[in-house]
Amino acid sequence: MSNKSGAVNVSDLRSLAKSRLPKIFFDYIDGAAFSETTAVRNRSDFERFALVQKTLRVKDMPSLKTTFLGAESGLPFMLGPVGFLGLYRGGGERLAAAAAKAKKIPLCLSTFSIASIGTLRRQVGGNLHFQLYMDRDRSFVEHLIDAALAAQTEVLYLTVDTSVTSIREKDLRNGFRAVTRLNAPLLFSMMQRPRWCLDMLRHGSPSVEAVENYPEYGKGVLEQASNLSGRLDASLTWEDLSWLRERWAGRLVVKGILSPDDAKRAQECGADAVVVSNHGGRQLDFANSTIAALPAIRSAVGPDFEILIDGGFRRGSEIVIALALGASGVLLGRAYAFGLAAAGQDGVEKAIDILATEISITLKLMGIASIAELQEGGTDNLIDRAYGFNA
Ligand SMILES: Cc1cc2nc3c(=O)[nH]c(=O)nc-3n(C[C@H](O)[C@H](O)[C@H](O)COP(=O)(O)O)c2cc1C
Repeated sequence: MSNKSGAVNVSDLRSLAKSRLPKIFFDYIDGAAFSETTAVRNRSDFERFALVQKTLRVKDMPSLKTTFLGAESGLPFMLGPVGFLGLYRGGGERLAAAAAKAKKIPLCLSTFSIASIGTLRRQVGGNLHFQLYMDRDRSFVEHLIDAALAAQTEVLYLTVDTSVTSIREKDLRNGFRAVTRLNAPLLFSMMQRPRWCLDMLRHGSPSVEAVENYPEYGKGVLEQASNLSGRLDASLTWEDLSWLRERWAGRLVVKGILSPDDAKRAQECGADAVVVSNHGGRQLDFANSTIAALPAIRSAVGPDFEILIDGGFRRGSEIVIALALGASGVLLGRAYAFGLAAAGQDGVEKAIDILATEISITLKLMGIASIAELQEGGTDNLIDRAYGFNA
């Protein structure tokens, strides 16, 4: 992405995305549930922590390589599942996967995607993970699992914080999901963003590849999006996780854990890792921030169980805080979706580079030489300004 764009941080990428996307899609990415209190907490609770500065000890810039979910990663973060990337940029899933591959980090593809996991494997490759939403129709779920297996996916995430789709008021106002066909207000909103329209026209009208042999999900992405979310299994329980554990021999990750009890339960059901997540504040409003929830979850599951985390990460320093609090790695959500909308693959790479540079500088100034050293030092690297540890 050229420097002409002027993006120096993730917030700049958000502004560029806003100027490029039709309002209905920008609001869908940016918005959160009800009063958006949890989404705000995800951001503001990082301020509770201060980083410990130590000097005159590290000569070189730190190494950011690390290992999580069974594979080496060039960086301590990855691209998490974000639905409908192909609506923010034509070929969005492919572009995000290419950026992840170039930067040697994993991408987790959402069930709600335009391109299928098989297409990404064929067209791009790299370390691809798959996120599963449990549909009421288990034969459709099995079809998704088989497709992930056929695409040599080694890591499957089950998202568990969507037993009902919460209300995102911006989406309600804009008619997102209620609209199943192009109508006049939607067309009008799209026409305000001619560059986006041209890009979409070049890529042809989008539809969800994974349901192409399932006419009951409808035609075209708007109708399919509405049907896919309408068919999520609201009665999902821990038994279903055990069912999935029996069917999936690879690594199984439970995404959407916010309480220590649930983390332990996931561990007992045979999950290999959890993602501490509140869906970016898009589900249970007034839930805790993920960064505040992390320490108790780490204590509950012990030091060796892998914990990933997402929610509000827009700065490298925030990723450093999460790793010091016991996270094995961080998933990006909106941070890279904004980059994608702003400038396609270059924009995603820009988001990744910005965060990588911020982490490098942060660690060097803390006097830490590697991600492993940061994780070994754990909370010794932090001051908790609210509760006073290490203060
Ligand atoms: C536009 C959008 C779409 C999302 N789609 C999915 C999805 O399909 N599956 C899923 O498990 N999580 C989904 N999420 C949640 C993200 O995986 C992640 O939990 C959240 O974005 C993290 O918060 P952040 O965006 O503040 O970093 C979505 C989030 C956004 C913003």
